[in-house]
Amino acid sequence: MAQSYEIVDHVYDVVVVGAGGAGLRAVRGLSEAGLSTACVTKVFPTRSHTVAAQGGVSAALGNMGQDDWRWHMYDTVKGSDWLGDQDAIEYMCREAIPAIIELEHDGVPFSRTEDGKIYQRPFGGMTTNYGEGTAQRTCAAADRTGHAMLHALYQQALKNKAEFFIEYFAVDLYMSADGRCLGVMAWDLSTGKLHRFRAQQTILACGGYGRAFFSCTSAHTCTGDGTGMVLRAGLPAQDMEFVQFHPTGIYGSGCLITEGARGEGGYLTNSNGERFMERYAPNAKDLASRDVVSRSMSVEIREGRGVGAEADHIHLHLEHLGPEVLAERLPGISETAKIFAGVDVTKEPIPVLPTVHYNMGGTPTNFHGEVLSMQGGDVDAIVPGLMAIGENACVSVHGANRLGSNSLLDLVVFGRAAALRCAETLKPGANVAEVPKEAEEKILSRLDGLRYSKGSTSTADIRLAMQKTMQGNCAVFRTGEVLAEGIEKLNGVIDSFEDVSVADKSMIWNSDLVETLELDNLLGQALVTIVGAENRKESRGAQAREDYPDRDDENWMKHTMAWRTGAKDVKLDYRPVHLYTMTDEVEVVAPKARVY
Ligand code: FUM
Repeated sequence: MAQSYEIVDHVYDVVVVGAGGAGLRAVRGLSEAGLSTACVTKVFPTRSHTVAAQGGVSAALGNMGQDDWRWHMYDTVKGSDWLGDQDAIEYMCREAIPAIIELEHDGVPFSRTEDGKIYQRPFGGMTTNYGEGTAQRTCAAADRTGHAMLHALYQQALKNKAEFFIEYFAVDLYMSADGRCLGVMAWDLSTGKLHRFRAQQTILACGGYGRAFFSCTSAHTCTGDGTGMVLRAGLPAQDMEFVQFHPTGIYGSGCLITEGARGEGGYLTNSNGERFMERYAPNAKDLASRDVVSRSMSVEIREGRGVGAEADHIHLHLEHLGPEVLAERLPGISETAKIFAGVDVTKEPIPVLPTVHYNMGGTPTNFHGEVLSMQGGDVDAIVPGLMAIGENACVSVHGANRLGSNSLLDLVVFGRAAALRCAETLKPGANVAEVPKEAEEKILSRLDGLRYSKGSTSTADIRLAMQKTMQGNCAVFRTGEVLAEGIEKLNGVIDSFEDVSVADKSMIWNSDLVETLELDNLLGQALVTIVGAENRKESRGAQAREDYPDRDDENWMKHTMAWRTGAKDVKLDYRPVHLYTMTDEVEVVAPKARVY
């Protein structure tokens, strides 16, 4: 029996968990539709990780040359290595154009062309005419696009009557015995009080779980709390083995150097000074998709052509771009390179290394954002009352590998789609169910279990062991043997969580307890990631199996669904990829070999 807590009760039509780009775009649409909306967020909205997105947001506006959303769709399907659902990709690429116009009207200060249009830069894998030319499709606000978008989206979300609960940590979902989501319990970090948010619909927009790995571009807050809660609710996560390594994290610190740097003409070299991408991707070169560039860099290093004293990284050159272009188009990364690598980008190359950047997998949804359960084997079955959007979700528009600048797009397109769905299906002020006592009791006893833990291993030590395991055993290149060893090691880490020690028992600003709850979320996601990777016997997108080097469409063109059925137990099942479009305005992109 959990200790008794005073719990503050709230009732809304919708509760959104997370205030990054996706959460804020949903909040805005929900409140405009007259639905009472609460937004619960563990950090101040403008500190959400969207703020760190640099290079831009994709849309076939055609401001810098001919473009077409169908070409964007083709590139996205190819980028996904044919694991993306083509109906959802069609929706995203078509909706991209009005989404950018909306952002412009909302006040995003995009960079401009000479004639005043939104500036667009080339990005990896973005082409014209179905792979023939290079597209300039990525709309940029210098190299601080996420920052600009997040601030505009927050202002828009504040315009109506949405209520923000800031620095509230979402502890768990309230689920009814028949599998309906009734809301979420959250902990107000400043007062220490628990809050019960009941709602007709709960929307998870908590971002990715990059911090399951040792070296990542993600903020320390990127602990995938949404999918962590989903797994605890007995629901599946989808395609978690597909973890994106961004080619250019700063060597040592992992800080992001935008792909926009290569979009503006930057290039990579090895220790021979060779532009090695010309060998791996003769057409796209340094602007091949991220999985291709990251693997090529790893091969160069492995074959002894890395740079530096330990030959363990690669050089990114921007010096030739000149100080004016660097100051105008890439001011943020020029500063980051100075601070984190001690490099003056006008004079010397930046030392870089592939670094975990994005989770293609997450909570499975349809294109409305409704969470899929696979209940009774029905691939379209949804979880009543629960949605997920943004990096929290797997729609799936990114499949096995996301193209750069499609993530900011995903946030606004599917944040809006979820709000539209709520407006269509919910009645403002309709009755909201009570939370059954047992559901609350279950959440409180887990909370108490961690809060009053009597173990002797610190959260930080357990987290580090998990991160090192994932980095070492579930990285750019994988084999069955290395993954199996990783599962063994991770099981040991999960065992050690039984012995966790939370020194501070208070409920007020107890960051020790917050980090322990976050670690619990990370461990579940790390487990389904590595188990899914071990079971997928092929190479596709970000999953590069050296023991199964080819893509195997016959056996593996399917989404992994993974349930955490016990502390160390995972059940896997699969669901078909949508090889069909939403309308007849575009044709299915037929699978073929993926070359750049
Ligand atoms: O490289 C970048 O600017 C990152 C963009 C993205 O991940 O979409």
